Amino acid sequence: QTVRLADYEPPAFSVDAVDLTFDLEPQRTVVTAVLQLRRTGGAPGGPLVLDGENLDLLEVLVNGKKLSPPAYETSEDALTVFDPPEALTLETRVAINPKANTRLEGLYVSNTMFCTQCEAEGFRRITYFPDRPDVMATYRVTLRGDKAAYPVMLSNGNNVSNTDLGGGRHEAVWEDPFPKPSYLFALVAGDLAMVEDRFKTQSGRDVTLRIFVEHGNEDRCDYAMDSLIRSMRWDEERFGLEYDLDIFNIVAVSDFNMGAMENKSLNVFNAKYILADASTATDADFANIESIVAHEYFHNWTGNRVTCRDWFQLSLKEGLTVFRDQEFSSDQRSRPVKRIQDVRALRARQFPEDSGPLSHPVRPDAYIEINNFYTATVYEKGAEVIGMMQTLLGQDGFNDGLRLYFERHDGQAVTCDDFVAAMADANGKDLSHFKRWYSQSGTPEVTVTSAYDAGKKAYTLTLEQMTRPTPGQSEKQPLHIPLRIGLLGANGGDLDLVSDSGALDGGLVHLTEERQTVTFTNIPDRPVLSVNRGFGAPIALNTDQTDADLAFLMAHDSDPFARWEAGQQYATRLMKAAVTAMASGEAGDPKGQDAFVAAVKNILEDNSLDPAFKALAITLPTEEFVGEQLPVVHVDEIHAVRAALRRKIGADLQAEFRAAMAANEVREPFAPTAEQAGRRALRNAALAYLTADYGPEAAKLAKESFDRADNMTDTIAALSILTEVDGPERSAALEAFETRWKDNAQVMDKWFALQAVASRPDTLSHVKALTKHPCFDIRNPNKVRSLVGAFAMANPVRFHAKDGSGYTFLADSVIELDSLNPQVAARMLGTLGSWRRYDADRQALMRSALERIVAVPVLSKDSYEIASKSL
Ligand code: ARG
Ligand code: ZN
Repeated sequence: QTVRLADYEPPAFSVDAVDLTFDLEPQRTVVTAVLQLRRTGGAPGGPLVLDGENLDLLEVLVNGKKLSPPAYETSEDALTVFDPPEALTLETRVAINPKANTRLEGLYVSNTMFCTQCEAEGFRRITYFPDRPDVMATYRVTLRGDKAAYPVMLSNGNNVSNTDLGGGRHEAVWEDPFPKPSYLFALVAGDLAMVEDRFKTQSGRDVTLRIFVEHGNEDRCDYAMDSLIRSMRWDEERFGLEYDLDIFNIVAVSDFNMGAMENKSLNVFNAKYILADASTATDADFANIESIVAHEYFHNWTGNRVTCRDWFQLSLKEGLTVFRDQEFSSDQRSRPVKRIQDVRALRARQFPEDSGPLSHPVRPDAYIEINNFYTATVYEKGAEVIGMMQTLLGQDGFNDGLRLYFERHDGQAVTCDDFVAAMADANGKDLSHFKRWYSQSGTPEVTVTSAYDAGKKAYTLTLEQMTRPTPGQSEKQPLHIPLRIGLLGANGGDLDLVSDSGALDGGLVHLTEERQTVTFTNIPDRPVLSVNRGFGAPIALNTDQTDADLAFLMAHDSDPFARWEAGQQYATRLMKAAVTAMASGEAGDPKGQDAFVAAVKNILEDNSLDPAFKALAITLPTEEFVGEQLPVVHVDEIHAVRAALRRKIGADLQAEFRAAMAANEVREPFAPTAEQAGRRALRNAALAYLTADYGPEAAKLAKESFDRADNMTDTIAALSILTEVDGPERSAALEAFETRWKDNAQVMDKWFALQAVASRPDTLSHVKALTKHPCFDIRNPNKVRSLVGAFAMANPVRFHAKDGSGYTFLADSVIELDSLNPQVAARMLGTLGSWRRYDADRQALMRSALERIVAVPVLSKDSYEIASKSL
């Protein structure tokens, strides 16, 4: 049941127009579909095959005439009409049960509202249709339902009529003039509150902007609305891209598998990424809302106006749209801080994926279940590939390429090749070598060695690249890797770079071979090397930098990313050494750590740095990151070493952290600005260091902070410390929080997650108890992610407990969840795939958890694919 890119065939029939009628009832919705079909491919005279799953077929008509078998046939996943005319009107009527839809794909009920999720293949759970993105049609949608229960009834495009049908029912008709693939179809019906604003486009179109939420949440939409308006303006200014309809709707729903969905003019969001105010949302929540609202809005051009030919091309729209939302957030906030956060996320999620059993290229070539390919590789590495193209072409060249892409492909379903061709043609450049980034999986490892010739005043770098074999790809070829390089002189400033092949534009070196050298001339003394500035290429780097070099870069690098990175590398080195020593029973070398602590002190006291950057720069790499740099992940040692280093930094820099807390206290009223968020981040990072030993003093300090907090960021920062302490402060704070927020599902998610990530030994028993908490609901994906997901993916020391209890718990949860919501179940089990990285005992336990999952008699394709490929 593997689908392959190599097997792509154009559709046999195109659909020009779709007319859908929904008679909405939670347990039995009748869907009537009238399709105008035309043969455009396939064997002449061949049957018409439509996708359909879980549909109760009531009738089929061709050109108005009712068919009966054997003129048609249905199976588990298709409707086949034999001997169809070359052009035909096909009418089908089916019944579906949205209330029983726990998969949250297709039409389902969330609380009391109807909503849809069709990407990637949910439309086939609504009606029979050629459910593939290269079939684009215009849609007219008639919604009929109970007036009191569903006063609001929405679909894509324009609302062309509303009619009272009598008997308490009403009807709304929507028409979308833009042809679209079925995955962009949406409908929403419910008793919803609405917040409205307006936007005037640069060409003068007046657009009505509406956000629909459950009643009571109207006053928590301001930030999402403001983010939408800023996104619309930014896309005009940066790319000249303007909105194309008179209305843009967003609906927030409580039960949603993913973050959000870009359905044409009717974006549907996980409520978590819309609703926010000072008392319930953290600064991170606000930043997420801003970037996800932007992401979905940007899809209107990159995804909707130009869409994907097939699902292997998913990164065509996702990588590009992530790149666009990252650029937007960088312009709205601090560019370096955003870059550091994005790289942290890439390393946390994409690097492990790319070095494990599920490694796949940005453009995958095979899948069993496409929902499993909405991955960090397709999204985040895909965005890095776009970013590298911008580096190669320059911002103007990149903009020209994008313009040509829309000129050529507006209204079409295209491929990643088409995108790169537009970039290349607009710039008269050959990107054929660069394009390997789309097809080759694995993180390239680049090794840089340096040699200084004092006599010739020449500095030579030898650059080597290597990509390890990944599943299905044993041979790897060299990639085109753009590397931004700087050489720091003794005073910390950048030296002018003149290489043997001429001046280097912005320090950019193109590594295209397996091994290359570059010599810089006129270098007075041995310089300090800064390489892959800005993290311009998504690679792993080995250098011969010394500890002193790293400390020097931490203090002086003109590239803020590289400055942060030097600290991360330095800390990683120290922790790796300590873990290796501890694992072999030796004592560590705390002396080596003093120089690092001094470098941290330097950062804290550097008045030229903004607080948000400082907060990131003093945060140690995660346990997971350190684990990846080691041949075997020594779970307990890594945890112990990192905790000890944090305690040491906290103890050595007490006075500095107290000063940082005081200096960064936000005294003015809360605002979700990057500036205030930065001060809160530094203040709370300082607090975390001061309380790193979780002793009685720490408990008191954190509790004080908890009691004083007037915003969710500070509350959560304090509570996350308190969940680790043993004193009475812990339960007092958890209970106070619960009492205050038990009626707010979104806030309770944070309460679940904090307890799930606590490193204390009794965490798993707490997690198990919390699955019985009245606020927990295994049918709600946010709840599952907050409790089970947080435990399995963000608590290495407890998830990987030596006795295997964490693995057993995860397998049990996945198995239970798989029968309800396969998509979410499959996402939970990815962590087990890294079993090869652990010691023999853990390997065996992780594998047996995977084997238990694979052995489940009725397992979804989703979980089967992840679990079987992981073994
Ligand atoms: N296209 C949506 C977004 O990135 C995500 C849809 C996810 N769908 C899925 N089946 N996994 O913005
Ligand atoms: Zn997207």
